[in-house]
Amino acid sequence: MNDTDFTGKKILVVGGSSGIGNGIAQAFRSRGADVHVWGTRAGPGDYDGQDGSDLTGLGYTQVDVSNPEAIAAAPAPFDGLDVLVLSQGTVLYRKEEFTQAGWDKVMAINVDSVLHCAMKFEQELADAKGNVVIVSSVAGFKATMGNPAYAASKAGAVSLTRTLGQAWADRGVRVNGFAPGLVDTKLTKVTTGHPGRRERALAKIPMGRFGLPADMAGVALFLASPMAAYVTGQTLIVDGGLTL
Ligand SMILES: NC(=O)c1ccc[n+]([C@@H]2O[C@H](COP(=O)([O-])OP(=O)(O)OC[C@H]3O[C@@H](n4cnc5c(N)ncnc54)[C@H](OP(=O)(O)O)[C@@H]3O)[C@@H](O)[C@H]2O)c1
Repeated sequence: MNDTDFTGKKILVVGGSSGIGNGIAQAFRSRGADVHVWGTRAGPGDYDGQDGSDLTGLGYTQVDVSNPEAIAAAPAPFDGLDVLVLSQGTVLYRKEEFTQAGWDKVMAINVDSVLHCAMKFEQELADAKGNVVIVSSVAGFKATMGNPAYAASKAGAVSLTRTLGQAWADRGVRVNGFAPGLVDTKLTKVTTGHPGRRERALAKIPMGRFGLPADMAGVALFLASPMAAYVTGQTLIVDGGLTL
């Protein structure tokens, strides 16, 4: 078996129904893994024809991770778990994140649920000597105009990656993550789908293009693989040079 062969591995991608998480889910599937995803819609058919969502060959469960009780009640997708990818995320615009309700919603999805999902599968991951991949953001390392909750929640996700990495190291579970720059998904259409904003955003990226879900998947595969066997608690910036 080579290092990026995941044949027979059991992998759950929270937020795997769309965008970056979906790209990661399909990358693991194409390397032999059994992959299950969680998303917000009632059934997998509800993603048919949705740009950035390909649920072919993936198991699916609707779980609203903004609700800790829903996470607790969600059925385990497999008997055991090798890799847990946490790619759920949301952002609010028009100053909504400066309100209590907006702040609470973004924090619940982007950081609280990261801890709740990880803790739910702690035993399975320890049994498998598995690992966790947490998707944060470059927003966790800088100010983000108009999005106080998004930035704080992503800083929290980076911090959680460190602390869980330390906490679980002696049980053989690695916890790492990566921080995307700008990837064209439904989360970022407000920028990538707007002619003026799109050009201004592209001008700030030294590599001259937005990231692709496949770019993110390559990093997730590395972090989850034996090639990263001595790496834990780290967040890799994957932004085409945006924050340089
Ligand atoms: N795109 C970027 O430029 C960028 C940059 C930095 C970081 N990120 C991070 O990358 C991750 C993936 O984002 P994306 O760009 O791929 O956006 P996306 O296409 O909107 O994917 C977000 C995923 O999170 C799920 N989700 C959102 N709220 C949820 C909830 N309450 N319960 C369960 N699942 C929920 C979505 O489910 P549905 O499919 O049902 O909506 C979807 O699977 C996020 O953590 C985001 O913050 C993205």
